[in-house]
Amino acid sequence: MTIQWFPGHMTKARRQIEEKLKLIDVVIELIDARIPLSSRNPMIDDILRGKPRLIVLNKSDLADAKETERWIAYFAAEGHRSIAVDSSTGTRVNEIPVLAKELLQHKIQRQIDKGINPRAVRGLIVGIPNVGKSTLINRLAGRNIAATGDRPGVTKGQQWIKVGTEMELLDTPGILWPKFEDQLVGYRLAMTGAIKEQVLNVEDVAFFAVKAIAGRYWPQMQERFGVEEPPKDLEDADEVVRVMEEIGRKRGCLVGGGRVDLEKASGIILRELRAGKLGRITLEAAQSEV
Ligand code: G4P
Repeated sequence: MTIQWFPGHMTKARRQIEEKLKLIDVVIELIDARIPLSSRNPMIDDILRGKPRLIVLNKSDLADAKETERWIAYFAAEGHRSIAVDSSTGTRVNEIPVLAKELLQHKIQRQIDKGINPRAVRGLIVGIPNVGKSTLINRLAGRNIAATGDRPGVTKGQQWIKVGTEMELLDTPGILWPKFEDQLVGYRLAMTGAIKEQVLNVEDVAFFAVKAIAGRYWPQMQERFGVEEPPKDLEDADEVVRVMEEIGRKRGCLVGGGRVDLEKASGIILRELRAGKLGRITLEAAQSEV
């Protein structure tokens, strides 16, 4: 589902999160390991107002492992703890409660010093649509959390989900809007499937995807699609289109007169990229963005 974010929606989303912040000790900010910057909310620091935060790079199974390490170092340099997980299989998800508790160590110690028995750490997952919030909640909960609140006419209060003995999670995540101002951010979100490409032109999205991947992951692209020649100059649009056409030809996307159906070829490129068929790819590097 693509949410149209109008200013009123943003204000409402922000208010909903601010209300929830009063109930919790720690925020789990979920981002996409393939696009760690583009999948962040532009106002996140402002919204969270210093609440302890753990950054979780989700979908790390689809991202370049070396780049993910660089991103973890990048966030550390910014003063944030972060961890890379794969919520679809559960890889490293069980470390989240441990790290969240570590972030609150001082607070917990103060309670112990005062003779108070510390209660379970209370957390809230926040992130843009499609980043994997529900998948992660279900993983942490160890079961599927019924989203009854999503059905019209059904109202539901906040529920706490127990994650082991030391953490409790609000069952409904905080939904944030992505950064839209920058056109390239929009394309990166579309490349990864965070926003549906119908919003943008599928051929444009595939164009930017090929341009980004050909520069840093050419061997993977060559292996998947059997294209011989990399683009000679990535800034030359004709060269990028030449690669797209070659992919189309290899996959039999032809229309009359032997011309390539670029729209069909673009659909294939994006579907296979999103499904990880080209291997593990990060579209934003911590040092220099591709
Ligand atoms: P949301 O609540 O933040 O909107 O996201 P949601 O959990 O619905 O996840 C969005 C999509 O991302 C889902 O795929 C989900 O399976 C996938 N996903 C979540 N976490 C991971 C991960 O760590 N790795 C990978 N590879 N995928 C992940 P979908 O296409 O909507 O459905 P389906 O493919 O599961 O059928």
